[in-house]
Amino acid sequence: MLFTIFGATGDLTAKKLVPALYALYMDEQLPKRFAVVCIGRRAYNDGVFLEEVREKLSGVYDKWEDFKTHISYYQMDFSNPEAYGDFEAFVRAQPQNESGDKIYYLATAPRFFPIIAKALIEHRLLTRGDMREKIVFEKPFGEDLESAVSYNRLLLESIEESQVYRIDHYLGKEMLQNIMMIRFTNKIFESIWNHENIEHVKIVAYESETVKQRGGYYDSAGALKDMMQNHLFQTLALVAMDPPYGLSDELIKNQKVKVLEHLRVESPIIFGQYDGYLDEKGIPPTSKTETFVAMKAFVDRPRWLGTPFYLVTGKKMDEKRAEIVITFKDSNCLFEKGQPDKNKLTIEIFPREGIILQFNGKAPGLVSYAMPMKMDYCHMCNVMGNSPEAYEKLILDVIHDDASLFTRWDEIENAWRVIDRISKGKQNEPLHIYKNQSEIEAVVRDYWGDKII
Ligand code: BG6
Repeated sequence: MLFTIFGATGDLTAKKLVPALYALYMDEQLPKRFAVVCIGRRAYNDGVFLEEVREKLSGVYDKWEDFKTHISYYQMDFSNPEAYGDFEAFVRAQPQNESGDKIYYLATAPRFFPIIAKALIEHRLLTRGDMREKIVFEKPFGEDLESAVSYNRLLLESIEESQVYRIDHYLGKEMLQNIMMIRFTNKIFESIWNHENIEHVKIVAYESETVKQRGGYYDSAGALKDMMQNHLFQTLALVAMDPPYGLSDELIKNQKVKVLEHLRVESPIIFGQYDGYLDEKGIPPTSKTETFVAMKAFVDRPRWLGTPFYLVTGKKMDEKRAEIVITFKDSNCLFEKGQPDKNKLTIEIFPREGIILQFNGKAPGLVSYAMPMKMDYCHMCNVMGNSPEAYEKLILDVIHDDASLFTRWDEIENAWRVIDRISKGKQNEPLHIYKNQSEIEAVVRDYWGDKII
């Protein structure tokens, strides 16, 4: 297998791709003969590149010395179509090229997608119908609906849909894979999973990190395209979809698409930018790009009539935390003092993977009032070692031709439709500058009240 990463000097390679490949290597999940070719524009050699990657890795890498012999650096301006002649010769000369998979992983800004894909196709490094040749696109796929449509057209004119993998690594996360299990293997949840019983749903993805070295890409995306269009919308689709008619990839995606087709976002949308963003590398001094976004959305389908879905994501928050909180409506409480708190089902995605069910029960002792209680299940505690990282699972799926955890074109298309509408109205919304999490959360509270944050 020849695994080629375009844009390999970016954060993603050291943060996610190399650790995932290393874990697969340690698990003996990679083919015996494999090579990882890392393409970047910087004038590095193998040694310098590997040194830089190694410095960014955290955790135990006992077999790094062995593993690194499979990695090489290839300097090339991948935005220049002329450069692909030499690259083709290089690929054809690799012993791993003879048999096995060729996987091209585009970890670049989306504007490079058509250039790279076109050149690979023209040089017959990616040929229609050869299932050993596959191309993987980091999200976001495109910059807006128009560009995404044109990139997609370009691809499907020359290769099969089954050779295209549009990655959204949230779908590889253990607890996102768990959503369908929780919903469709429990009568107690699925029978009340609707607007009659659920008051609101909140999906949160907070990060403490800033944009770091990714300013060049991030400023053209912002939280709306970097996180909302993909990770949060995909999470929402899994939470809100109707039960599929079967468990095939196709049937599940058909139901997810219906959610995205009927997604309506209500005004106002809250945009924030962390204080100091304008001083980051690669950010224009007058940038109005949001690093925080919160929205109230509705899924206009019978199941969800009137149920708000609050979607919130931001960088430079006080904590890295991702979770889904389903808050149920009040019961018809017979007790004089009423129901102390609402029932809540929390699906924890990060840092803990777990499920918490909050309910009410009798307070202990000689009293006759209720108090909130929690059933707390720690998912990650039951896994030997760590549960696999999302990228590990997804790379393995690409190797095994399994696209079920990748996004289908119509999911992306519908997500862009919603985001394009929001982007158009964005300049009319205020941009709140925040120093920390509590400052921007106070803004959200002003709009939607305490129960959301
Ligand atoms: C990526 C975004 O897709 O997801 C990043 O581009 C973000 O900006 C990252 O930091 C968050 O992923 P995770 O798995 O670390 O929560």
